[in-house]
Amino acid sequence: MARESTAADVIAHLRPGMRCFVHGAAATPTPLLDALAADPALHDITLYHLHLDGPLAPLDVAHAGRIRSVSLFTGPACRVPIAEGRADYLPVFLSEIPGLFRTRALPLDAALVQLSPPDAHGMCTLGPSVDVARAAVDSAPMLLAEINHRLPRSHGDSAVPLSRVTAWTETDRPLPEHAPTPESPVVARIGELIADLVVDGATLQMGIGAIPDAVCARLGNRLELGIHTEMFSDGVVDLVEAGVITNRRKPILRGQLTTSFVIGTRRVHDFVDDNPTVSFQPSDWTNDTALIRKIPRMTAINSALQVDLTGQVVADSIGHRIYSGIGGQMDFIRGAARAEGGRPIIALPSTAKGGTISRIVTTLDPGAGVVTTRGHVHWVVTEHGAVNLHGLTLRERGERLIALAHPDVREELRREWRGVRNY
Ligand code: COA
Repeated sequence: MARESTAADVIAHLRPGMRCFVHGAAATPTPLLDALAADPALHDITLYHLHLDGPLAPLDVAHAGRIRSVSLFTGPACRVPIAEGRADYLPVFLSEIPGLFRTRALPLDAALVQLSPPDAHGMCTLGPSVDVARAAVDSAPMLLAEINHRLPRSHGDSAVPLSRVTAWTETDRPLPEHAPTPESPVVARIGELIADLVVDGATLQMGIGAIPDAVCARLGNRLELGIHTEMFSDGVVDLVEAGVITNRRKPILRGQLTTSFVIGTRRVHDFVDDNPTVSFQPSDWTNDTALIRKIPRMTAINSALQVDLTGQVVADSIGHRIYSGIGGQMDFIRGAARAEGGRPIIALPSTAKGGTISRIVTTLDPGAGVVTTRGHVHWVVTEHGAVNLHGLTLRERGERLIALAHPDVREELRREWRGVRNY
């Protein structure tokens, strides 16, 4: 039976009430989502996903009540639906999402994925996003796919036999891209301070955004760096091409960059395409703290929205407003803290909203979600300096973090801090 058909025919395999995984980032299967939104017969559909990219028709207010999205890590398109109560957010470590699918604590009926075309052995791949998609594909009884001729073919634990796919539609469309953010003077300074903490032979974990790019831009004279991360972007490609990232001193998957997904421009997609030196692995493996702690000089660089004067790190919400997710921050911060010579780093500009709001605060905003606790935090970096909070008292932390705040707010923070702590 031919299983290749239109997106509408593929989606017609779903039934009302089904719980579906949706492949994320550049692998978001947009034509399948469009067809789902356009099929009024499908109601009570729940979509579980990480950050989705491109147009997201099912999130349109017109489909509220018929299709419900549940973000396990969210991006721009879901923030308003979540804030309006039309969509849900589920806070969870990236390392533990695959377990939710595999144990059927979140029982999936179907997985909607984007795959690279099959090779001579009938094997497709999950392309640039293996992360939690591996577990979803392994545990969902029904697999519905967009097979995109432009999706990179990835190595690692990424193969999906075409014989496993219930139905698919073929496309040849470009992937969504994320261009590097231009570097501001604040981010440049943060990049310098973090680069000073990266030693030769370190293995790096970094997220997306201006800060990781600024760090990469300043590591050109380091020797023998490695990558073991949940994701990487264009800045890492520069360092590979410059011979700085060799992965030779990394004990786990030596010689290979290890990641669970990539986000970036076509450059990073071309770089990973059929590249045996990039090993895509599921996020319960890449983000396993017990594995990360075995990597000497593990250097985890993560960002934050707010940090209080005791060292509590907010990363998934701005007050009550859900902004992103827990992701792998704690997985890597903890793993790096336990690794020999490891460096767990939280980096953020000292202010937000054009300098009008301090991100270093005495008291967190009501509703703010602590991702890294004050027990787990080590290095905090802003454009005004870097401090290792590990082993410091609350009083010492307050003093050191006030020095990392913008000079205009330091006096006010001191006053507030004396008020709440009686120092
Ligand atoms: N109050 C109000 N607004 C704030 C704010 C605060 N305390 N902190 C930040 N903002 C605003 C910024 O001004 C910016 O707004 P703009 O887009 O209008 O300029 C926006 O929120 C985002 O801030 P920014 O610093 O640019 O965020 P980012 O894109 O660098 O992402 C995190 C930072 C924390 C959201 C991101 O790193 C994350 O999701 N982390 C959690 C997961 C994780 O760490 N995973 C591991 C690595 S992938």
